[in-house]
Amino acid sequence: MPSEVKTERPPVCDYEGSDYQERFWEKGERRYEDQVEAVALRRLLPKQGKLLLEVGAGAGRNTPRYAGFEHVVLMDYSTTQLERAQQRLGTSNRYTYVAADAYRLPFVDGLFDTATMIRVIHHMADAPKALAQIHAALQPGAKFILEFANKRNMKSILRYWLRKQEWNPFDPDPVEFVELNFDFHPATMRRWLQTAGFALERQLTVSHFRVGWLKRNIPIGLLVALDSFFQPTGALWQYTPSVFLRSRASGETPVAKPGTFFKCPECGTALPSPASGSLKCPGCSRVWTKKNGIWNFKQPS
Ligand SMILES: C[S@@+](CC[C@H](N)C(=O)[O-])C[C@H]1O[C@@H](n2cnc3c(N)ncnc32)[C@H](O)[C@@H]1O
Repeated sequence: MPSEVKTERPPVCDYEGSDYQERFWEKGERRYEDQVEAVALRRLLPKQGKLLLEVGAGAGRNTPRYAGFEHVVLMDYSTTQLERAQQRLGTSNRYTYVAADAYRLPFVDGLFDTATMIRVIHHMADAPKALAQIHAALQPGAKFILEFANKRNMKSILRYWLRKQEWNPFDPDPVEFVELNFDFHPATMRRWLQTAGFALERQLTVSHFRVGWLKRNIPIGLLVALDSFFQPTGALWQYTPSVFLRSRASGETPVAKPGTFFKCPECGTALPSPASGSLKCPGCSRVWTKKNGIWNFKQPS
């Protein structure tokens, strides 16, 4: 897979109807991974903010960690994941639920002061395209916290040296180890961020001890404390399976006009204020609707 894939409508890894949250997080012995990610997020997130975009929010596992933000937009391709998030978080005015494609974001340019994308970019066949979309939705100077799966991790290096794995973890191109599941080289991800208009501020290495035997035999609290201690070494080298980056939206980008929020993902025209459950695009006449508290920007009505 070449590092810069260019397709108009890249394929989406569809979680519609998936039991991912229960299977992977709740029954899958991932308490260690969940807690070390919470530590990394605490370190990287601004203490407070007005409007945060959570790209690929899934069932809202991380959303309670954004407590310092006045408003959170949970955006995901899967409506059923958003329904689960809604069951967990409720329907208060603090949350907006949006079903959309990260390759075609339905938000006006320069809207958000912070965005996060945790455990999502590994599903992107055209990661640079998604990064460019996120950059456009951010105000100048906004923070972007990205987690990505690192192909150059200790386990993959050992397996490669022992000839148990064919792909080279040092090769800069992404590896698609299962359909629409990619691991990335840290240098490639940094370059893509820069090309999309981001300035890197901080790198943390996360999940240093993601080894079944350790998780079964060492108290999780101790493993989390050790991981927390080593996370800042990400500034020097990155050999963990997961890496968290905080970047700043740089460059001359616009700030959203007051009162604007959504744009038509088909033609890019700003939509009228979402007073009701239906928005007609003044540019192309497509109609986008909200059903059961979830805006649907995947398909016009
Ligand atoms: C592994 S889950 C992670 C969910 C959540 N961020 C977490 O860490 O618990 C990946 C999520 O990305 C979403 N996703 C994948 N491709 C997407 C796309 N093109 N646009 C929006 N969401 C996408 C999936 O629907 C799924 O909910």
